[in-house]
Amino acid sequence: MNKEKVLIFDTTLRDGEQSAGASMSIEDKVEIASQLNQMKVDIIEAGFPFASKGDYQSVKKVSEISDYSIVCGLARAHYKDIDVAGEALADAKRKRIHTFISTSDLHMKYKLKMSKKEVIEYIKKSIKRALKYTDDVEWSPEDASRTDLNFLYKSIEIAILSGARTINIPDTVGYSIPGEFATLISNVKNNVTNIDKAVISVHCHNDLGLAVSNSLSAIIAGARQVECTINGIGERAGNAALEEIVMCLKTRSDKLPFFTDIETKKITMISHLVSSITGFMVQPNKAIVGKNAFAHESGIHQDGMLKNANTYEIITPESIGLSSSELVLGKHSGRHAFKVKLNDLGYDLEDKNINKLFEDFKDLADKKKQVFEEDLIALVESENKHPSNMFIDLIDMSLKCGKGKNSEAVLKLNVFGEKKEIKKHGNGPIDAIFNALKELIPNKASLIVYQVNAITKGTDAQAEVNVRLEEDLITVQGQGSDVDTMVASAKAYINALNKLIMKRKKAEDSKTMLQTSNKKLNKHVI
Ligand code: KIV
Ligand code: ZN
Repeated sequence: MNKEKVLIFDTTLRDGEQSAGASMSIEDKVEIASQLNQMKVDIIEAGFPFASKGDYQSVKKVSEISDYSIVCGLARAHYKDIDVAGEALADAKRKRIHTFISTSDLHMKYKLKMSKKEVIEYIKKSIKRALKYTDDVEWSPEDASRTDLNFLYKSIEIAILSGARTINIPDTVGYSIPGEFATLISNVKNNVTNIDKAVISVHCHNDLGLAVSNSLSAIIAGARQVECTINGIGERAGNAALEEIVMCLKTRSDKLPFFTDIETKKITMISHLVSSITGFMVQPNKAIVGKNAFAHESGIHQDGMLKNANTYEIITPESIGLSSSELVLGKHSGRHAFKVKLNDLGYDLEDKNINKLFEDFKDLADKKKQVFEEDLIALVESENKHPSNMFIDLIDMSLKCGKGKNSEAVLKLNVFGEKKEIKKHGNGPIDAIFNALKELIPNKASLIVYQVNAITKGTDAQAEVNVRLEEDLITVQGQGSDVDTMVASAKAYINALNKLIMKRKKAEDSKTMLQTSNKKLNKHVI
């Protein structure tokens, strides 16, 4: 069977970061981009450079390091947006500008306050402007799935005539259902006269839980690029999950004659990385990357698995980078075995980073009898999280607590480069720890979620704590792991506070930039 390639366009760093509560520092984004690049993602949408200085810097830095993936920057149909995107992408080996404008009646009337004629003018001018920076221009009619069909065809035709090489059809509000979305793609293929000059892409949101199904239906109908995110994160209910699309195309190639160039063995590692950076836990029953995706609980299934794994397993754990051996290393394991194991898990780390991790591993192996793969992943991820802990870091902590006692927490912290110590009481140990942190780093944030998970089995398992804080309109997630649940809780709260500080700065930045731009932008001058 002749198979056709489907391009994988990852937007974890742009649409994914638009998830409420997700925040990534520039370093975090570069780390994710470097893994996406190694995973052979065709295009990385690294951000929306005009939106904030942080986004500009991330796109710039990702451009410097990507030697495989095309780096893409998002821009509204305004000259300023496009120029800033072009500048941020200047150092990219291969670059793309993705520009968009709404085409549905609803968006044109209420959001843009523009007529169809004006929108057409914006399409022409924005694409022409983007071509000053690269010949690889992608154009999206926002809210395409609710756009009047004849106007959609006309807009796409104009976009291609103006020089767009990729036409992305977004189901912006996740409203479409699979048959309908496939028909939309076929209609575009059959009614846009110059469509053969462009690649059809799709960008599906998951509001009705159909983002992956809609994307696959669109591929069958003729789309050859899918926009997706790791773990399906994204605005509202998220975007189509990269790992689900890729593994579906791979597993069902008997019915779906397509391929991608994705190194699927990197999937587990990058899923953990994104989850740890954003603080968004992956639900246990999530397809492909959930903790239970390869767990067989019932006796009948376990019996079948022992006789032949094909009885109940349609994907091998190894194909997504999960090893089948559970117990990996112990306190007598050497540095070489440690490095090999990290490589097996998909981490390609420099020697200086391995040394620090190996020390942490030895500490952990002293506390825990058995070190599992999940422990190693948590270890690497807590190092990765370090760049986010740039404002506040935990040095030491001690606690007094017990039945019927008022708990007492003593914390030593590094706060903006200064060592500080504080003692605080509370209604239980967590309350005492969080009261101490609130006193040292004043904030109005409320604790919305506090969750503890055991990373592996056993009473000596490491705890992974997730917290969510809300302050005004800002939501942040924090994560921390340790063999001591209280230390893990303090680490998670500190991680969230660091992100809160970063997000406050970003929100300020973004407000000023967008206000200045809106003042300068006259509706009729793009
Ligand atoms: O959902 C959407 O419409 C988008 C566009 C910018 C492509 O994210
Ligand atoms: Zn989107």
